[in-house]
Amino acid sequence: MTKKRIGILTSGGDCAGLNAVIRAVVHRADLLGWEVVGILNGTAGLLKDPPDCRVLDPNDFGGTVMRLGGTILGTTNKGNPFAFPMADGSTKDLTDEIIKGFKSLALDAVIGIGGDGSFAILNKLAQQGGLNLVGIPKTIDNDLGMTDMSVGFDTAVSVATEALDRLQPTAASHDRVMLLEVMGRDAGHIALSAGIAGGADVILIPEVPYSIESIAEKIKAVKEGGRNFALVVVSEAVKTPEGENLEVVYHGGETRYGGIGHYLGSQIAESTGFETRVTVLGHVQRGCPPTYNDRVLASAFGVKAVDLIKEGRFGRMVAWQNRQVVDVAIEDAIAAYQQVDLESTLVHTARALGISLGDK
Ligand code: F6P
Repeated sequence: MTKKRIGILTSGGDCAGLNAVIRAVVHRADLLGWEVVGILNGTAGLLKDPPDCRVLDPNDFGGTVMRLGGTILGTTNKGNPFAFPMADGSTKDLTDEIIKGFKSLALDAVIGIGGDGSFAILNKLAQQGGLNLVGIPKTIDNDLGMTDMSVGFDTAVSVATEALDRLQPTAASHDRVMLLEVMGRDAGHIALSAGIAGGADVILIPEVPYSIESIAEKIKAVKEGGRNFALVVVSEAVKTPEGENLEVVYHGGETRYGGIGHYLGSQIAESTGFETRVTVLGHVQRGCPPTYNDRVLASAFGVKAVDLIKEGRFGRMVAWQNRQVVDVAIEDAIAAYQQVDLESTLVHTARALGISLGDK
């Protein structure tokens, strides 16, 4: 086997476990005698001449890096290279520049760690530029198809569950309804899992249309049953009863979900008469040490990605299915976008536990 030089980049929003993936790739490649080049800030690093990158060595990872949230390579969820936003407000197709950047690194293959949006971009770049791409799925939203789990989801759920653990005692001390808004664009996986694990009374996800009356009914029933507090989890992508997504507009005009927690908090207080407080968890779900589960997943994915390159199998994404790491076509994974399946075990479990999904 000839010595290979492979690239690796993180793309899209960060999450816990990215550094554990990078470490696994570097360790596996090192055992094969290969060199790994870390491309900085996703595809943005390739727009520099020479590209922003550095050779990664197993010693770079010491004992601490795999335990850290974030990504040592940096990432971006802005700047689609096919319509890159320029300073004057126009957009420009930078495909050629990025492919040139890739080619200048003389890589045998590149590993992209991303979600559905990143893979759509990377796959198109790979096809246009003749690049050998292997994908590793990461997203706290867990909405990528063909894999039971993506890196970062388990940690995000664990943070949201811990938030409910912390909200419950204060809710009980003050006879309050506590509402927790969690991330998830545009799927309710985090809310559903954390809500079950954290003992929520109501879980609101974008996949299930709800009514305020139904939520209020459940909360009143909890109180009438003798409990003095209630816990509600809402996914950021839940719409208002009128079907509107609430968003925050950031400097430069960029929008992100935000506001449904406070909106529903006041609606609940008004319709139940119970004191209600709202916590918005936000990026706390992304920037913390990965759970053991995410570290194991990251390690298995990193090893499998390098092995796919060794076998000369490209255009593939590693995936977790039925207790095994497998590989699927990147295109199939993107096409199979995965919202919460209303017939799934977890939806059934929530309902069977008496948790309200706020159904109309
Ligand atoms: O896709 C991951 C995610 O964390 C979503 O859950 C969330 O809506 C979004 O990214 C936030 O994006 P940003 O980091 O740009 O605020």
